[in-house]
Amino acid sequence: MSDLSCALQIPDDWPGYPLDLFTSPEHYCEDLECVYIPHGVIMDRTERLARNIMDDLGDHDIVVLCVLKGGYQFCADLVDCIKVLCRHSNKTLPMRVDFIRLKSYLNDQSTEDLHIEGAENLSVLSGKNVLIVEAIVDTGKTMKTLLDHVEAFSPKMIKVAGLLVKRVPSGTGYLPDYVGFEIPNRFVVGYALDYNEYFRDLNHICVISDRGKQKYKI
Ligand code: HPA
Ligand code: MG
Repeated sequence: MSDLSCALQIPDDWPGYPLDLFTSPEHYCEDLECVYIPHGVIMDRTERLARNIMDDLGDHDIVVLCVLKGGYQFCADLVDCIKVLCRHSNKTLPMRVDFIRLKSYLNDQSTEDLHIEGAENLSVLSGKNVLIVEAIVDTGKTMKTLLDHVEAFSPKMIKVAGLLVKRVPSGTGYLPDYVGFEIPNRFVVGYALDYNEYFRDLNHICVISDRGKQKYKI
């Protein structure tokens, strides 16, 4: 686990940017309140996380375990950044990429039952250096459950990269080893994070409007 001094902290009173200063898909124009983290900033921060990961893990073999669905964009961009660094440095980081799917959210609420799909073939992780890549950690319960699950396959080492960590009162205090942004306890979408499967096709991380919540509620 890391400490948050090395995450980019977004304060509780951060209002975000007005939507009309950026572009976003027309079909979501009424459904968002603000641009919370612009895509470019996500990319710049990801580039730095990649460098930290290279500094720590360079010259090891790793298995990247991407946590779907929300983690697909962050994982793809992080892996791309690591590949660029490998090309431009004398370190290398041979990677395999594997996928696991977790589901615990309905509307904007976490449900008790966590489903892990793709967990059958995790025996490939035995004896390996594993980098779990997750888009968001809020209470930390999901990550704890996943870590217990992965640990059962006896990897040599486990590191976790989380793009976002939420400041939630009921949190377990769990922190990933690499954290992109520490954010207030607000429901965010975009950059592959969804609300009932909507908004994955949005580049920026945004706050959903009340109207958006109503429109896509199930
Ligand atoms: N947005 C999308 N998915 C999530 C969030 C969020 O804020 N928190 C946990 N899963
Ligand atoms: Mg979701």
